[in-house]
Amino acid sequence: MRRVRIALLGCGTVGGGLVRLLAAGRERIAASHGVEFELARVLVRDVSRAREGVSPERLTSRVDEAMPDDAEIVVELLGGLEPAGTLVRAALRRGLPVVTANKALLAEHGRELFALARANGATLGFEGSAGGGVPIVRALRGGLAGNRIESMEAVLNGTCNVILTRMEQDGMSFAEALRGAQEAGFAEADAGLDVGGHDAAHKLVVLSALAFGHWAPPSSVNVRGIEAVTPQALADARARGRALRLVASAQRWGAALELSVAPRELPREHPLARAAMEQNVIVVRGDTVGELVFTGRGAGAGPTATAVLGDVCDAVAALPRLEAWMPPAMMRAG
Ligand code: HSE
Repeated sequence: MRRVRIALLGCGTVGGGLVRLLAAGRERIAASHGVEFELARVLVRDVSRAREGVSPERLTSRVDEAMPDDAEIVVELLGGLEPAGTLVRAALRRGLPVVTANKALLAEHGRELFALARANGATLGFEGSAGGGVPIVRALRGGLAGNRIESMEAVLNGTCNVILTRMEQDGMSFAEALRGAQEAGFAEADAGLDVGGHDAAHKLVVLSALAFGHWAPPSSVNVRGIEAVTPQALADARARGRALRLVASAQRWGAALELSVAPRELPREHPLARAAMEQNVIVVRGDTVGELVFTGRGAGAGPTATAVLGDVCDAVAALPRLEAWMPPAMMRAG
């Protein structure tokens, strides 16, 4: 069995979810990929706090100790621009495969980071950065290759959708609903990024880069959040047979691309209106394939850790010392 050592940067909601999933899926991963993952080091803010499934000697709060020489894959789940950016750049310069769920970092510096990865023969997996457990990155990168994507409309922020759902269906106040989303581990450390629409904008920038081949600066996205949405506005929409959702939209206008995030009223039967609680929905229109609807849980430990682990398993194939190695499932006959 091949052992692969992971440097895990960040052990919050998603990092903790990944640790649990690595343990729970150990045998399945061994059978399907022929590897056993091991945590080489885990970077956390507070080493005195115990982390389930992580032996204390693996923990460090020192950025310069976060990626030991024997780490073969780096998983960045710190969020935010720094120190995440510095660590990801350092890992890519070492030629290590990096997996990240950091939409803010990718939206701001994606073009540079992918160039750096290419220059150093490293890979950069980012399925967890948009859509949570919905494999939308894979779909846009692989399955839809060759299509000209005309537009994309999506519910991309679980926290906002929980707030809108709870306010409308349970009569909760905005603050109460936000607290619930925070307790469930859906919200960003700075929940202003969620309710202000910026988290959705970051994800839209990432998905647009895949769909349209163009890294739009986050500042070019027209962003309006849900802070001003009132229970009355939701009740009025409901009375008209409509629902309010925070919609991220990317639309081609000739050669130009228009990106926006704003609350929008939609007919109840619209696919985006059907997003409930932390669900994300992404509607993609391709010139050949037509309209596709992707849906699933877009936030939280389980769904996002699933996306991250998928990338980690893919990264194994990119490890240089595995040239002569094949996953057992691929060697079985029939
Ligand atoms: N804060 C994000 C959300 C987490 O609520 O969607 C998942 O990216």
